Parts: sequence; structure tokens; C-alpha cells
Amino acid sequence: MRESILRAIQLGYRHFDSAALYQSEQPLGEAIAEAIDKGFITSRDQLFITSKLWCSDAHHDRVLPALQNSLHTAPGKYEFPVKKEDVVPMDLKSVWEAMEECKNSGLTKSIGVSNFSCQKLQRLLATAKIPPAVNQVEMNPLWQQKKLREFCERNGIHVTAYSPLGAKGTIWGCSQVMGCQVLNDIAKARQKTIAQVIF
Ligand SMILES: NC(=O)c1ccc[n+]([C@@H]2O[C@H](COP(=O)([O-])OP(=O)(O)OC[C@H]3O[C@@H](n4cnc5c(N)ncnc54)[C@H](OP(=O)(O)O)[C@@H]3O)[C@@H](O)[C@H]2O)c1
Repeated sequence: MRESILRAIQLGYRHFDSAALYQSEQPLGEAIAEAIDKGFITSRDQLFITSKLWCSDAHHDRVLPALQNSLHTAPGKYEFPVKKEDVVPMDLKSVWEAMEECKNSGLTKSIGVSNFSCQKLQRLLATAKIPPAVNQVEMNPLWQQKKLREFCERNGIHVTAYSPLGAKGTIWGCSQVMGCQVLNDIAKARQKTIAQVIF
């Protein structure tokens, strides 16, 4: 993973999406250090790095320790899928307050959310002192999230697409996006790959 990330930085990738659950934080940190060492980038400031507070840490007093773990790249203990008995209601307000403290103390540059619907965002915005900088959601040409994108635009929330190619080749994805005839026709007409026209 470290080698792939290093090569990606060399090729010009600037946003790396990670999470404690993905166990990608340590190789990412090492690759960034090596990229600076090799002169592919001059400073960490040139990159956008996302990590994620995992559901099991979404409790007011576990937010800061979880972030500190991420920053020290200590391997976290996370189980996926989550056991049914571990699914409990989340106190969004108090968890967000703890995330705001992370931002106010300078431990993170920005705070955001993932897989939030308009309704969840509305609930969050009703009490948040710092609005989420970003909402990372699944989005691709066949699932454009129009309503959510409009809502986010109105509220100054940046939308990040995950699985923009339909996650083909992963355990849960499908080939409908990469196998879409319309996209294939557009790609052919433009002499680009399907992935290029999607982006
Ligand atoms: N926030 C969340 O809840 C959440 C959930 C899931 C994922 N994510 C994020 O989404 C990102 C990854 O998305 P993803 O891997 O699920 O989906 P994706 O980017 O839509 O699809 C990845 C698959 O597309 C194929 N592919 C990649 N580049 C290609 C290219 N240039 N041309 C042709 N095929 C290409 C590869 O398939 P082959 O291996 O078969 O070549 C690869 O496995 C990560 O950053 C992850 O953290 C976030």
C-alpha cells in the first residue's frame, strides 16, 4: 500500500481517503514522509488527507482518543460488519461537539461527515457551531445525488464522491457504471477511457 500511495503522489494524486478501519493510516503516513524526502511534494500542506471516526467511536468521550490514535497511526481494533447488538442510537449533537473540539484545538484542519442524507445534515446544522466542511457519499453517473448536492451547495458543504466508478472489483460494488453503454459511447467519441469521462 505504501508503494502504491508513493507512486500515486508522484503521479499527481493529492487527496487520500483513509480510515482507522481501513488500516491505511500508517502506510499513508510513511508514504507521505517518503514523498517529501524524495521531493515529489515539498510539504504535507499540498495534500488533502481524510480519515474517519468509526461508528464504534461515535461517542462524545471517544472522539478525541480515536483521532489521537489516527494521528499516531496506532492500529485500531474495529470489526466490520458491526454486530447487531453493538448498533445503538448515536447522540449526534454531543459527538459533533467533540469533533468541533478537535478542530478548535488544531488537531484536525477540517471536520466533515459521510453518508449523511439531507435530513441528517439538517439535524446536524440545527445545533452545529462549525458546519461540516464536507459530506462524503457514494456518487457516480448512475447515482447523481441531485437533491443532496443542491442541499449541500446551498449550505456551503463540499461533496466528495466515493466509489465514483461504481466500486467494480470490490466485494460490494457492481459493474453497471463501468459497463454502461452510454458512457462507453461518450468515451469512444472523446477518445478517452470510461474512467476519464466519469471524472
Ligand atoms: N465513506 C464511505 O462510507 C465509503 C464507503 C466505501 C468506499 N469509500 C471510499 O471510496 C474510495 C474507493 O472507492 P471504491 O474503490 O469503492 O470504488 P471505485 O473507485 O468506484 O472503484 C474501484 C474499482 O474500479 C476499478 N478502477 C479503478 N480505476 C480504474 C480505471 N482508471 N479504469 C478502469 N477501472 C478502474 C478497479 O477495479 P479492478 O480492481 O477490477 O480493476 C477498482 O477496484 C476510497 O477512498 C474509500 O475510502 C468510502
